[in-house]
Amino acid sequence: MSRIVRLYRTGGPEQLQLEEATPEEPRYGEVRLKVQAIGLNNSEAQLRRGDYPLLKASFPTRIGRECSGIVEAVGPGVIDVAVGDEVSTIPTFDVQRNGIYGEWAMVPVEGLTKVPSNLNRLEAAAVWQQYLTVYGPFIEHASLHHADTVLITAAASSVGRGAIQVAKLLGCRVVATTRSPDKVRVLLEAGADRVVVSGEDLVGAVMAVSEGHGASLVFDPIAGPGILALAGAAMPGGLIVEYGQLATEPTPFPLVACMRKGLTIRGYTLWEITLNPLRREQAKCWIHDRLATGELRPVIDCVFPLDRIVEAHRYLESGRQTGKIIIDVASGARQ
Ligand SMILES: NC(=O)c1ccc[n+]([C@@H]2O[C@H](COP(=O)([O-])OP(=O)(O)OC[C@H]3O[C@@H](n4cnc5c(N)ncnc54)[C@H](OP(=O)(O)O)[C@@H]3O)[C@@H](O)[C@H]2O)c1
Repeated sequence: MSRIVRLYRTGGPEQLQLEEATPEEPRYGEVRLKVQAIGLNNSEAQLRRGDYPLLKASFPTRIGRECSGIVEAVGPGVIDVAVGDEVSTIPTFDVQRNGIYGEWAMVPVEGLTKVPSNLNRLEAAAVWQQYLTVYGPFIEHASLHHADTVLITAAASSVGRGAIQVAKLLGCRVVATTRSPDKVRVLLEAGADRVVVSGEDLVGAVMAVSEGHGASLVFDPIAGPGILALAGAAMPGGLIVEYGQLATEPTPFPLVACMRKGLTIRGYTLWEITLNPLRREQAKCWIHDRLATGELRPVIDCVFPLDRIVEAHRYLESGRQTGKIIIDVASGARQ
């Protein structure tokens, strides 16, 4: 027997039930992983609470999409990976059956990728959700040039930290936002040219950094009424990418700024890329290459053992993190 996490109803972190479950045999196209480490994502807290805008869980369900692991068994039709391979998961799958919180997980083979040799098992669980979320808007959608300004909101989130790295790699200037004055220093050290704390003059800061042009790309997981200031900070012809809904208030449409400046406001999820085999391979190559050179490196905020998964989710919801929260499964696994 090994332990997995299941949800039986929506609610607080205490709804994450760590329970014994005999590992299943993989079905066609699936692989069973011995999970080494799990990367927590904010959408998992939303799914658990029942307010994830993109998916309503049906119960009981497993949970989680991002882990590193060792291939333990392969199902029929699997030719690309073998028992013993060290892999990370890429979000291509539904969590009901394939959720990865636990000591074992059943994952479709297209949702796996090899671990770069310079990443340890904890870092290997902190790569794909953040960099694939960044890849679409920064590499596929926006035409960013050296010295362009990008505005990254909730910049201390794991996706935000990945976005700062990619923006600096492209030679862009970065304005980062946070609700917490305590995070300013860490965001400046991460490469932000300017950090704006909630309540400060965001449009003025972006105009100052961009020498009056505005932000070419606004990368925003918050939405809500703050979108009006984002439209004010965008440059004429700029792109605003909405990729999350952290705000609980409705999101007004910034019609006048949109008309005046010819803005594009675009919704985005990484599923655009992960469910398209060609785009997924291109994105994987781009990210793998930059992980190998060290130009991209996931930032880990803190590490919990699996038996403190409830506490880890409490911390995830606290908003105190400045990078990825990891569950180190291998260190506490029972043999
Ligand atoms: N579309 C996609 O494909 C995709 C993929 C991955 C993630 N996402 C979304 O991206 C967002 C970040 O995910 P993550 O896992 O990187 O998050 P995370 O690491 O858990 O960080 C969340 C951060 O967001 C900020 N925040 C939380 N609630 C907020 C609110 N109501 N208003 C403003 N800021 C708030 C907090 O930073 P401060 O306290 O510093 O403000 C917090 O530290 C989530 O909305 C998630 O659903 C979308």
